[in-house]
Amino acid sequence: MDKQKNRMILCLLMAAISRTVESGEWVASVISNLDALVSSCVVVPCTFTHPEGQTFSKSQIRAIWHRFEKWNEMIYNVDNTQVLDSFRERTKLVGNLDKNNCSLEITGVRDHDTGPFCFRIELVKEAETTDKFSFVKSCVEFKMQYIPPIPEIISSRKPIQGKPFTVTCSVFHNCPSFVPQLKWNRKISPEGIIETHINIGSGRWRMESILTFIPQEQDDHTELNCTAVFHGGMTSSHVLPIHIIRTKSYNYIIIPVAVAAGTTVLFGLLCIVVVKKYKNRIAELQRRDGSMWNRLSRMSRRFRSDNPGPPAQRQVTFQKSSLL
Ligand SMILES: *[C@@H]1O[C@H](CO)[C@@H](O)[C@H](O)[C@H]1NC(C)=O
Repeated sequence: MDKQKNRMILCLLMAAISRTVESGEWVASVISNLDALVSSCVVVPCTFTHPEGQTFSKSQIRAIWHRFEKWNEMIYNVDNTQVLDSFRERTKLVGNLDKNNCSLEITGVRDHDTGPFCFRIELVKEAETTDKFSFVKSCVEFKMQYIPPIPEIISSRKPIQGKPFTVTCSVFHNCPSFVPQLKWNRKISPEGIIETHINIGSGRWRMESILTFIPQEQDDHTELNCTAVFHGGMTSSHVLPIHIIRTKSYNYIIIPVAVAAGTTVLFGLLCIVVVKKYKNRIAELQRRDGSMWNRLSRMSRRFRSDNPGPPAQRQVTFQKSSLL
């Protein structure tokens, strides 16, 4: 019974001690997991708070990043000579310590840079290191990416001939200090492209390129290509096949109608000319025909000499020949 009591008291005591250590002390907040693209770069978001009432200037704080549980294996120290050879010139504190920002940039990421790496603060007083704080729970571990993320192409609708068409190409990355470039396989005026950089939290970012152009007939059955060029030279791309929706043209009605109308007019004119020409000819023929008729009627009269025929007929014949 006594033993149990003692153990309980001990537990409470330990809890109380750890509590005082936690509160009012230095606290760093580091992203615990982050993807890192080999050959490229990565920025680890990190912020810290110091005990209330105490203020420190940048010169009093020494920020250090080191390997987990290996305080001497530093990957970042303002004093370059203390940094591991394999990390020298590759790490940089991009955060502003005066603003409690301890963000770390690593460039030329190598596949063995997995970590974990932890943040640590040393307080410097009169060139002497007085206190050291290592935030053992504040470490980052990298998951290596050997293939760069592939950009995504999104458009709200299908391209329509002659109408502005907008497509968005976006790619995720974890290196805001050297953002990937997004390139299109079309020659477009810079005003046709809008770029945005979005912080999606937890050290992740999205680079976007919004392209607007007016598709023409010749763009049909072509490809729109968006290539992401990452810091360090790795590239990845996405291809969007373009199928243009043709705008309705009334040419297929207008042209035949115009041709038909033109032909009709021409044909009409031709008819008039032909009719005029042949009218004369017909008149001539009819004149001849008339004389023949006269002859025939005269013959028939002679033939039927006993019957001289009605005078009306003779009159008609006369009229006809006079008319023509
Ligand atoms: C810390 O600094 C980095 C690099 O300059 C910046 O991207 C980030 O937004 C800063 N974080 C805060 C919380 O201000």
